Amino acid sequence: MTARDEQTPSPIRLADYRPPAWAVERIELEFDLGIDTSEVHSRLHLRRDPAQDAPLRLDGEGLELLAIALDGQPLDASGYCYRDNVLEIDRVADGSVLETRVRIRPAANTALEGLYLSGSRERGFLLTQCEAEGFRHITFFPDRPDVLTRYTVTLRADRERFPVLLAGGNPDGAGALPDGRHWARFVDPYPKPCYLFALVAGRLEKLERDYVTADGRHVALVIWAEPDVIECCHYAMDALERAMRWDERAYGRNFDLDVFHVVATHDFNMGAMENKGLNIFNAKYLLADPDTTTDDEYRAVEAVIGHEYFHNWSGNRVTCRDWFQLSLKEGLTVFREQQFSADMNSPSLKRIDDVALLRRAQFPEDAGPLAHPVRPSQYSEINNFYTATVYEKGSELVRMLAGRLGPEGFRRGMDLYFERNDGRAATLEDFLAALGLANGIDLAPYLAWYGQAGTPRLSGEGHYDAAARSYTLTLRQHTPPTPGQPDKQPLPIPVKLALFDPDGRMLPLHEGATEQVVVLDTQEQSFVFPGVERAPVPSLLRGFSAPVVLDYAYAPVELALLLTHDTDGFNRWEAAQQLAWRAYMEMRDGRGHEALTVWGDTLARLFDQATLDPALLADLLTPPSEVELAERETDVDPARIHALRQTLQRELASRVGAAALAERYRALTAQASDALDAASQAQRRLKRRVLELLVLLDAPTAQAFAAAQFDRAATMTDRLASLAVLVRSGAPQATEALARYRTRHADNALALDKWFAVQAQIPGEPALARVRALEADSKFTLKNPNRVQALLGTWARGNPSGFHRVDGEGYRFLAARLAELDALNPQVAARLATAFNGWQRLEPTRREQARAAVAGLAEQSLSRNLAEIVGNMLKG
Ligand code: BES
Ligand code: ZN
Repeated sequence: MTARDEQTPSPIRLADYRPPAWAVERIELEFDLGIDTSEVHSRLHLRRDPAQDAPLRLDGEGLELLAIALDGQPLDASGYCYRDNVLEIDRVADGSVLETRVRIRPAANTALEGLYLSGSRERGFLLTQCEAEGFRHITFFPDRPDVLTRYTVTLRADRERFPVLLAGGNPDGAGALPDGRHWARFVDPYPKPCYLFALVAGRLEKLERDYVTADGRHVALVIWAEPDVIECCHYAMDALERAMRWDERAYGRNFDLDVFHVVATHDFNMGAMENKGLNIFNAKYLLADPDTTTDDEYRAVEAVIGHEYFHNWSGNRVTCRDWFQLSLKEGLTVFREQQFSADMNSPSLKRIDDVALLRRAQFPEDAGPLAHPVRPSQYSEINNFYTATVYEKGSELVRMLAGRLGPEGFRRGMDLYFERNDGRAATLEDFLAALGLANGIDLAPYLAWYGQAGTPRLSGEGHYDAAARSYTLTLRQHTPPTPGQPDKQPLPIPVKLALFDPDGRMLPLHEGATEQVVVLDTQEQSFVFPGVERAPVPSLLRGFSAPVVLDYAYAPVELALLLTHDTDGFNRWEAAQQLAWRAYMEMRDGRGHEALTVWGDTLARLFDQATLDPALLADLLTPPSEVELAERETDVDPARIHALRQTLQRELASRVGAAALAERYRALTAQASDALDAASQAQRRLKRRVLELLVLLDAPTAQAFAAAQFDRAATMTDRLASLAVLVRSGAPQATEALARYRTRHADNALALDKWFAVQAQIPGEPALARVRALEADSKFTLKNPNRVQALLGTWARGNPSGFHRVDGEGYRFLAARLAELDALNPQVAARLATAFNGWQRLEPTRREQARAAVAGLAEQSLSRNLAEIVGNMLKG
């Protein structure tokens, strides 16, 4: 397999979609598995579309063709043509059976796409990753999601080396073979696209649990992992059961096979994969144990387990017609996971996390050279379109639709969607049509959201007419141009709102309700609220009811009122974010400190309020990230943003007071437990935030606290929080703590990733030297995606002041690593390259350095993945 295919990429266009000329009714696949080479025998039962007259064309990449026969007759070289990754055969009759035998090379596969080896040759195991287009690296097939096929899969391998043999579907026999080999067969009764195919073979241990579905089916839930980590799978098993129960209750969806396998691997490009009946997980989203897993990571495991499980209906039973419809499964499934996580934990904290992610990851994407609609209209490399836009913004679009229909209407719509599209490859139009039809509502106007890139700006203006006792809210929308889309249409924007009187009480609105949704679907519109006794403070976009940037000229005291009194937890946090942003601008522009004072004093008051959830308080005390601050500026200077944000936090800390912070820290430490309940997690979250603020005010005290906490920590959450404070504040105790952490967790890959990541976050100029030193560490390797993400990803994408050095060394270093990484793993290289996103908005010195680094990269011979990202980056 070649990592680099230097073709001039001709883009694939949505407008060119044609249904497949050939369908595959059934496939019989037989594998003779080996680490260096494996052989794949395939029998395709073909059906021609009578309306089309095209030769049979099958995808196949890097396959060594050993034998080929049509209806039992071997084909000689004149009977077929295998060129440019396509196998073409003329004159195939409807109903024919095509047989091929190919050889592939798992151990040499560093791209981790298709069949590959996880771990070492001696102890590792074989597995597959097929989405989006990995199946063509395994055998010849029409590798597109609208070809649905019934799979019978037989695996054969040495029993000693590969005692466990798994594939998707129901088990259908197993047995011994001569020469110490054995076999196992699986039949999947549900036709599926080839991207959902999976197999696993190796020495794995299991956890097993019986599950009975709401409709009475017995399902064996089996989680597989390498022997040393199998005991870390109990939490995932519990989460899986919760997810299955939740989908039964919330959507009436039951599992549909006799067995559901989940496998953990340390070598995985993505987070996890929903292969039918055989989910495969990046170990970091499956393994969990109190000594090495943080609270945030426990919640991530639950969320990802939920996400992949929910795909069984939103993705597998109903799949995508083509990859342009990717958000049909991903946006919808992210939304379902968000609902699940909100139900299992705190809804407002979940909402805050998700919106913060949207702003940190999706808004910058939508504002830069990589901007694309939730349903792109063209792509060169599909793997580059698993983006925050398709996922996170896609989920926001489903949320708007659900909000428009209400809970019962949305459920009715989803029932109809699943009913009409079960076993089909559907489109986003099919989705909106089903939701609308079930409710007698035309949702077509919302389709515009799927086709238009860019984040809409929503500006609002309130006017109170004391004489008429009415309040008028005027809303306007504008979407800035994005690459290839200069002109934007108005979109339907649902604005959930409430009005507060000056004492912080909610006013009754329509029919006594205190909340109302108005929909802005033109450029500008006014909404009148009668019977308002005093000038109100509007709480707008409650729960973040639409993915837009809101601009409303609140007075700081109005934001303080919302921060103190709003009943919507998300909007309380939003008021704090707004205040922090204004305080930041005041400091930046050197004009007064009105917002700073209001922000600091309001939070200082809330700090002492015993009834406030400590986790929410921790979030209220956190200003927008450096990435978000940069997002709203031109001539971005990341070093200055970092310094200003530090000053901002120091100001906040001083208004709360060193004594109050230290006292709160001691109180939280005294309560500390290693329990995982919400209250204990909330205390740990606040404890970390308090320590981070205190270190800005009184470093020696806070560092002594942190060192003691590191010594005694009963959880990874506490250990890592204290280590991060020591490392980032340059504490004298940091070196020893790092060494002890390293010794303690030397054999644990996931814990070591955190050791790399925490150091990659050192602010400012010293970061690069640290990254270089860590690269030379014996545990660093470019071959493992998690390790690359932990060190290079954290530094380049999560540490702006560390990456954006004014001398440009950061850019040149990353470009060099990208070229190296690209030869091994194009998907991971392309994702890391998005660190350059936003370079056009840097201040001139950095801008020129970044441009030169990206342009230098573009001149090299790159994979299609990396070439597309780099190329787009230079276009913008
Ligand atoms: N289907 C994807 C995994 C995937 C993505 C495979 C891209 C091939 C290419 C899976 O359902 C998914 O979305 N995984 C996410 C995690 C999820 C919780 C958002 C991932 O891997 O990042
Ligand atoms: Zn997904």
